[in-house]
Amino acid sequence: MKKIYEGKAKVLYQLEDPETILMVFTNQATALNGKRKEDIAGKAILNTQISTLIFEWLESVGIATQLIKKIDDDRQVVKRLEMIPLEVVVRNRVAGSFAKRFGLEEGGVLSKPTVEFFLKDDELDDPFVNVSQLTSLNKITEEECQTISDLALKINDKLIQLFDEAGLILVDIKFEFGKDSSGNIILGDEISPDNCRLWDKVTEEKLDKDRFRRHLGSLTDAYEEVSKRLDAVIAHQK
Ligand code: TMP
Repeated sequence: MKKIYEGKAKVLYQLEDPETILMVFTNQATALNGKRKEDIAGKAILNTQISTLIFEWLESVGIATQLIKKIDDDRQVVKRLEMIPLEVVVRNRVAGSFAKRFGLEEGGVLSKPTVEFFLKDDELDDPFVNVSQLTSLNKITEEECQTISDLALKINDKLIQLFDEAGLILVDIKFEFGKDSSGNIILGDEISPDNCRLWDKVTEEKLDKDRFRRHLGSLTDAYEEVSKRLDAVIAHQK
């Protein structure tokens, strides 16, 4: 199989059918844009489990995703997308770089969710970018920005509800989108506690990658808890 992409947490291979790709999750956890790296046993399996649960649930509520199916503990077959080189962050509460940029305490509830775009470019440390810059640089059209922003907010709304039922606060989340062979913009990549912030609703304990970033205790214990709670909520809905 031909390797077509190697990221920090996933490797992609072209499958025989040109419309499909094998997504292999890795145990690697990184912080400081890859400057700190660690292998965490069990992370790949947990992220595959959680991302599959969430993408299948999103499909069931009418959101098109890249996922075709999970085929192994740490592997999914996904649709080939032409990925849009953006990290689309939606924030419901103040945390992380937003807290730092505006000198705010973490945890404050925003009056409405906010959408931010970061250019996906490791060498430049994924710079913050606005719609005007994106369109001037011909990275994306204004219409596409609007579609992505609307879709990100819609998915965020649905996930707030899902996580709430699992006793979790969705603080913020990063999405990646791509175009399918018909030109439709659909949700790609993964959704796991690697790319969102999840706090326990009662204790506000962090159950996401901030545990690794900030040395707050076992990552896999937290991810197992998230997986268990989501599994229970989704099974109950069926
Ligand atoms: P930030 O507060 O560091 O900007 O992160 C916002 C959200 O985006 C948080 O849930 C973590 C996620 N994220 C990624 O998934 N990948 C990244 O490279 C960064 C910087 C953030």
